Amino acid sequence: MARFARIIGTGAALPERVVTNVELARELAKRGIETSDEWIVTRTGIRQRYLAEPGLTTTALGARAARAALADAGCDAASIDLLVVATSTPDQIFPSTACLIQAQLGAVGSAAFDVQAVCSGFVYGLAVADAMMRGGGYRRALVIGAEIFSRILDWNDRTTCVLFGDGAGAVVLEAAERPGVLAARLHADGTQAQILCTGGRVEGGRVTGDPFLRMDGQAVFKLAVNVLDSSAQEVLADAGLTAQQVDWLIPHQANVRILNATAKRLGVPPQRLVVTVDRHGNTSAASVPLALDVARRDGRIRPGHNVLLQGVGGGFTWGSVLVRF
Ligand code: UT7
Repeated sequence: MARFARIIGTGAALPERVVTNVELARELAKRGIETSDEWIVTRTGIRQRYLAEPGLTTTALGARAARAALADAGCDAASIDLLVVATSTPDQIFPSTACLIQAQLGAVGSAAFDVQAVCSGFVYGLAVADAMMRGGGYRRALVIGAEIFSRILDWNDRTTCVLFGDGAGAVVLEAAERPGVLAARLHADGTQAQILCTGGRVEGGRVTGDPFLRMDGQAVFKLAVNVLDSSAQEVLADAGLTAQQVDWLIPHQANVRILNATAKRLGVPPQRLVVTVDRHGNTSAASVPLALDVARRDGRIRPGHNVLLQGVGGGFTWGSVLVRF
């Protein structure tokens, strides 16, 4: 059994269409919804987001990110024996997006399943894949976060529709004798389900209930800052590292104010915080692997670096994974 699971490749995929805050505000104004670039930047740090064109699927975005990660790792899809997809915006109720992506990649025969932990989904998927590789004998895994949140947004609700974007990110993990994932901790508090949810369901051939994302932003904000700090402390203690030894901090990219508050509470200097929420918006389960891919490809993350990946979101769910590159 392998002692560790190592990230050996990363990849990303974004829709073609970029929508700036100014463009979005102009579009929303036509519906009588008032917002501004100034409000969105000041409150969230978001300047633009990528929005999926009609016909683009979560499966297609996830498969593109996976191919990029496989190419980066120098691996063939046929060598993958575990495929985990984190998504809350699957193309169908079933089969899982993981199975649909597996078919597109040609990784037939691998284990394939989805993880549904909303914005914590990628961190959940990574922790599960790590455990399966160390305890279950899997040798090479793809963990993908893929979302098209624009399709579950109420474009008449300015408190949510300006925040989210679409995209996918992926990593290839390989069984190894040197680290690797150093520590992982996952948590949830289902009593807080209502503060961030999409309550509708398909029943009798129709959607019943509210099919749109609803969020109590302030409640989520307060919980997020607390749990990001506590779960960071947990994985650092598990790995026997201090916050000073974290080379790169990559929390879920929801709001730059949450990112800055998390770094400050942990004592990680702002220059070690990876921020991509400005260009991607909040892409839910895709946000962490998208940010990871950006920081790897621009040369910030280098071999030997300790990278702290953190998710937080609907459920309420949260968790951290500490990785050495
Ligand atoms: O991905 C899962 C995790 N999600 C998060 O972590 C999100 C956490 N929450 C947040 O990031 C912030 O709470 C928000 C960005 C959602 C909101 O920021 P806020 O500073 O908490 O603003 P607020 O909700 O207190 O709203 C302030 C004002 C309100 O007006 P009044 O009541 O003060 O007159 C809102 O109606 O801003 C108004 N407002 C807007 N104004 C212009 C809300 N949305 C908009 C908007 N444009 N888009």
